[in-house]
Amino acid sequence: MSKALSGSILVPLMTPFADRVATRQARICVVGLGYVGLPLAVEFADAGFSVVGIDVDQGKVAELREGRSYVPDVPVERIRALISPEPAAGRLFGTCAFDALGEADAVSICVPTPLNKEKSPDVSYILAAAGEVASRLHRGQVVVLESTTYPGTTRELLLPLFERTGLRVGEDFHLAFSPERVDPGNASYGIRNTPKVLGGVTAGCLEAASALYATVIERLVPVSSTGTAEMVKLLENTFRAVNIGLVNEVAIMCDRLGLDVWEVIDAASTKPYGFMTFYPGPGLGGHCIPVDPHYLSWKLKLLNYNARFIELAGEVNASMPEYVVEKITLALNEDRKPVRGSRVLLLGVAYKRDVNDVRESPALDVYKLLADRGAELAYHDPWVPELRVEGIEADSVPFAAEELGAFDCVVIVTDHGVVDYAAVAAHARLVVDCRNATRGLAGGARIVRL
Ligand SMILES: NC(=O)c1ccc[n+]([C@@H]2O[C@H](COP(=O)([O-])OP(=O)(O)OC[C@H]3O[C@@H](n4cnc5c(N)ncnc54)[C@H](O)[C@@H]3O)[C@@H](O)[C@H]2O)c1
Repeated sequence: MSKALSGSILVPLMTPFADRVATRQARICVVGLGYVGLPLAVEFADAGFSVVGIDVDQGKVAELREGRSYVPDVPVERIRALISPEPAAGRLFGTCAFDALGEADAVSICVPTPLNKEKSPDVSYILAAAGEVASRLHRGQVVVLESTTYPGTTRELLLPLFERTGLRVGEDFHLAFSPERVDPGNASYGIRNTPKVLGGVTAGCLEAASALYATVIERLVPVSSTGTAEMVKLLENTFRAVNIGLVNEVAIMCDRLGLDVWEVIDAASTKPYGFMTFYPGPGLGGHCIPVDPHYLSWKLKLLNYNARFIELAGEVNASMPEYVVEKITLALNEDRKPVRGSRVLLLGVAYKRDVNDVRESPALDVYKLLADRGAELAYHDPWVPELRVEGIEADSVPFAAEELGAFDCVVIVTDHGVVDYAAVAAHARLVVDCRNATRGLAGGARIVRL
């Protein structure tokens, strides 16, 4: 940060933007109020800023205006304490209109970055949001992209769009990229205490974005460019995808070798250095880990490079739902039962424990594969009362321990914390446990682990 001498002491040399941030006069817009944008908007409002949250989803904006929270990590009390009928200091205002961008000192873009059918990046949401910003871009404005995307997006897509207005980056406006690391359902790490990586198009861009984010984040990690910041996020998520792919393959290997993969991992985890624990499961889920590495491999393909680890991990991870269904089929076979007509209860359909998000959840694949084979399916998920996705139309059935025996097979797909696994081990007939949730539990059930 720049410093200037004033008398005998050093004081920060305030740019108008930094000054407005320090005095909380800066007006902030967060574009996209999902799992990433809503917590960020709440944090900025809590820090004393006037925050306008903009989302094209009228349902979300209506919920917000009525003081409800649709993101489990944001308690409804926080929303109620901050939500406001109009923009005001220290308050959060939700809207579908983009007009407030014209008044905003800073804009954070937190829109989705899914894959399209060919598994290539769908940056249409970024372009749509950035288009709204570009049409209202003005001198002094600071724009930060938070959506996970391939290295080069900020410079190659956003910068030309913004400079087409005639304004110059680093002089008239500032542009930065800062990947979001939020881990839904993580009680220990939230926005404030998770270090945040930031890269600016220019040094001034980095400085301006840092001034803003330092108000809500304890530790910023500045990097030399937006491309580096984009790549950091993809390294983190590719690291997870590849290691999960490895441990999933180790589970398959242990099965062939007649070994218990969970015991192997537990013992390996005692190594105090050089080993990091990952667990196998029914496949990857969520908006990030199954998707983000493909942004990187797509970009590398354009540069004539085949990102082999990413492709291989993707292949192994994507095959896990079939592997689980094969386990279920073999386990039922032991009981002289075909899949067709067997009553199967799936426990947990969210993509990971204690969240309500079913995007890319491997449980959906397990559900559809079993349905295709003629199983009579039911599911229980305390976080997901109904499933209306990918051709599935079902409601969560109540968890009743004494009725578990009525199912031919209970499959633990996602190990939510509140489910009574002792009751599952005690009352079910057959359990296929993809998460080792029944570890150490004895009961009447025959338990088959991944
Ligand atoms: N969910 C996570 O755990 C997580 C973690 C880290 C990073 N990310 C990344 O953050 C980004 C956002 O993810 P998310 O999980 O919050 O997605 P989300 O789908 O929960 O939220 C995105 C929101 O943006 C809105 N939106 C779409 N187009 C818009 C537009 N043009 N203008 C305004 N609003 C628009 C959608 O209606 C939606 O409410 C993605 O790039 C994702 O990869 C997500």
